[in-house]
Amino acid sequence: MACHLLIPAAGSGKRMGADCNKLLLPLLGKPILQWTLEAAIASKSIAWIGVMGQPHDYPEFQKIFNEISQLKPIRLIQGGESRQASVFNGLQALPADCDRVLIHDGARCLATPELFDRCDASLQTMQGFIAAVPVKDTIKVVNGLTIVDTPNRDQLWAAQTPQGFQLELLKNAHLTALEQSWEVTDDAALLEKVGLAVQIVMGEETNLKVTTPQDLAIAEFILKQRHN
Ligand code: CTP
Ligand code: MG
Repeated sequence: MACHLLIPAAGSGKRMGADCNKLLLPLLGKPILQWTLEAAIASKSIAWIGVMGQPHDYPEFQKIFNEISQLKPIRLIQGGESRQASVFNGLQALPADCDRVLIHDGARCLATPELFDRCDASLQTMQGFIAAVPVKDTIKVVNGLTIVDTPNRDQLWAAQTPQGFQLELLKNAHLTALEQSWEVTDDAALLEKVGLAVQIVMGEETNLKVTTPQDLAIAEFILKQRHN
C-alpha cells in the first residue's frame, strides 16, 4: 500500500522575521510550501498528502494547491499551537486505510522525491526512522558558557525529516505525551521516550530547514544549481 504523508505547515516563522508564515515566502518565484509539495507529489511512493495549517493561511495554501498538479489528494488540516500539536491533529485526520505515515516539515523544501522514496522503502521494515546526516562540526555540550562535554562525533547525527512510523506506534506515543505533558521538537523523540527503537535513514546534505533569511539565500543557491 502506498504511503500517507503529513506536512506540518502551521508555524509562524518567527526566526525568519517576515510578517507572514515563512512557508508563503517566495523562493525563485514559488512559495516555499509549493516546492515541498511538488517534491512530495513527484515521489512514487506517496498516495495522499495532509497539510496542517493555521486557518488564516488557508486561502494562500489553497492557491498553492490550485497551482500544482492534483494527481494526489491533498487535504487541509487545522494545525495546533506547537509542531507536536499540529502533527497530533494530522494523525487524527488520516484515512482509515493508513497503516504507516511519513511526516515532513513544510520548511524542508529541498528534500528530493528520491529521499521520500528511500524513506518509504525503509518503513516497510522499520517501526520508526528519521532521515539524518552525520554532523560535520565538533559538537560541545555547554553549561552557561563552559564546556562540560565533547561527545564523540562518530555517534552524532543531525536530525532531518522525513520521519516515518508505523501509525499505531506513533499515535500511542502522541497520546502518552499528551497524558504526561511531554513537549518535544520531533516525532522520533516521542518514540524514544516510550522506549521504542528509531532508526536512521541517510538524509541529504542539502535538505536544510529554511529557518532564517540566510537559509532562504542558501536554498535559492542550491535550487539554481540543481536546475542549471
Ligand atoms: N509547525 C507547525 N505547527 C506549529 C509550529 C510549526 O506545523 N504550531 C511547522 C512549521 O510550519 C514548519 C515545521 O513545523 O514547517 C518546523 O518548524 P519551524 O522550522 O520551527 O517553523 P516555525 O515554527 O514556523 O518557525 P519559528 O520556530 O522560527 O517560529
Ligand atoms: Mg518553530
